[in-house]
Amino acid sequence: MTIAFIGCGNVGAPLADHLQRAGHDVWLAAADAASDSVGRALARNPALRVATPVDAIAAADVVFLATPFQANEAALAPVAAHLRGKVLVDCTNPVGPGLSHGLRSTEAGSAVVQRLAPGARVVKAFSIYGFENFEDNRFPDAGARPAMPYCGDDRDAKAIVHQLATDLAWDPVDVGGLEQALHLEHMTLLWIRMVRMGHLSPHFVWAALRR
Ligand SMILES: NC(=O)c1ccc[n+]([C@@H]2O[C@H](COP(=O)([O-])OP(=O)(O)OC[C@H]3O[C@@H](n4cnc5c(N)ncnc54)[C@H](OP(=O)(O)O)[C@@H]3O)[C@@H](O)[C@H]2O)c1
Repeated sequence: MTIAFIGCGNVGAPLADHLQRAGHDVWLAAADAASDSVGRALARNPALRVATPVDAIAAADVVFLATPFQANEAALAPVAAHLRGKVLVDCTNPVGPGLSHGLRSTEAGSAVVQRLAPGARVVKAFSIYGFENFEDNRFPDAGARPAMPYCGDDRDAKAIVHQLATDLAWDPVDVGGLEQALHLEHMTLLWIRMVRMGHLSPHFVWAALRR
C-alpha cells in the first residue's frame, strides 16, 4: 500500500520505518523537508520518501496522523480536502494537566480528528502504548503477540488497519466503532500512569487471550 505519515517523531518514525521494511511504499508528508524529525527518520531508513503534505496525502491509500494532539488542527486544515475517502489512522492522544484526558473525557480526541477531516475514514490505532513498543514489539517469551486494539466506523478501513497491524506482528483487536476511541484514550492514560509515573518498564503491553 501507499502510506503517508503526518508527523514522524517518536511514534511516526518507527511505524514508517517498519511499514516500509514490511514492503509498503511510505511517504513522509513534510511541510518542512529539512526539519529535524524528517532528517532523523531518513537517517534511520533512507527508503522513506518525502513530499509536501498535499502530494503525499493525494498519493496515499492510508494516512497516519502522529502529531502532538494540539497540532492536529494546524496539521489537518491544509490537507482536509485531500483526506476525503482516505483511511486516516489516528495515533494521537489528548493529554491534559496531571495526565488527565485532554478533553476532560467529554469526547474523544478522535471525534475532533474526524471533525477536522470530515471526509476521512478515521481509525484509532497505534495509540495506547509508549513509542518504545512501536520501536520494538517483540516479546519472544510471551507465547502471544502483543494486542493492538483499534476502532472506527468504516469496516473496510478497519480491515486495512487490521492488515497493517498484522504486517507489523501485532495481534489486532477490533474494539468497535469510533465512539470507543475515548476508552482507548483512557487506556493510553492508564499505560502512561503505570509506566511514566510508576515503576513498570516501558516494554509493557497487553495481550488478548481468547477461547
Ligand atoms: N510518545 C509516545 O510514546 C506516544 C505513544 C502513543 C501515542 N502518542 C501520540 O502520538 C502523537 C505524536 O507523539 P510523538 O511522541 O511522536 O511526538 P513527537 O516526537 O514530538 O513528533 C511529532 C511530529 O509531529 C510533527 N508536527 C508537529 N506539529 C506539526 C504540524 N502542525 N503539522 C505537521 N506536523 C507537525 C513534528 O514535526 P517537527 O519535528 O518538524 O516539529 C514531528 O514530526 C501524540 O499525539 C502523542 O500523544 C505518543
